[in-house]
Amino acid sequence: MFPQLERILIDRSKIAERVAQMGAEIGEDFAQRLDAEGVDGRIEDRVVIVPIMAGAMVFTADLIRHIPLKLRLEMLAVSSYPGTATRSKGATLASELKSDLTGKHVLIVDDILDSGRTLRLVRDLLDERGAASIRAAVLLDKQGVDRVPPPDGHVFAEYKGFEIPDAFVVGYGLDYDGCYRNLPDIGVLRT
Ligand code: IMP
Ligand code: MG
Repeated sequence: MFPQLERILIDRSKIAERVAQMGAEIGEDFAQRLDAEGVDGRIEDRVVIVPIMAGAMVFTADLIRHIPLKLRLEMLAVSSYPGTATRSKGATLASELKSDLTGKHVLIVDDILDSGRTLRLVRDLLDERGAASIRAAVLLDKQGVDRVPPPDGHVFAEYKGFEIPDAFVVGYGLDYDGCYRNLPDIGVLRT
């Protein structure tokens, strides 16, 4: 264990097991939706995964390998924790969407749902781009925190990996001041 971790909250084997389940569930749901439109999702190009960089990088890399559909990645960067802050300072877009989402079924992927500002911002943005459907997957759902109202007519995330207590966590893509993304387990930072 890294000396900077006070304790491990979710170890790598639990993460791997849950990510595989989530990928399978997402794959089935998207395939069903496409099926209803008469589209074979393994062949036709209708699914776009939008990972929120850089926190969702590790989760996305594992998750997409459990989704057996034809898909493309469209990365988005959102900044909310400048430097050593551990509370969201509001979410701002730090990149632009490059592809046209008209008629696409979009899955936003993020590491963690905290105040909800990030998913709110990204969902509102994608809504304006003519996506056929928008869903979101987060690995972690932080409990007992203040949230902004969810996007109109939506929940923040349709797919959630684990509920965690209100602590600042790092590892598996999550950082503190840019570091610790490479830890294979998710843990609480020593303060
Ligand atoms: P929200 O916009 O407040 O929901 O926060 C979501 C973003 O803040 C995530 O994409 C993470 O990058 C970051 N974040 C929230 N909580 C944590 C944490 O405990 N550790 C590391 N990053 C976090
Ligand atoms: Mg983030």
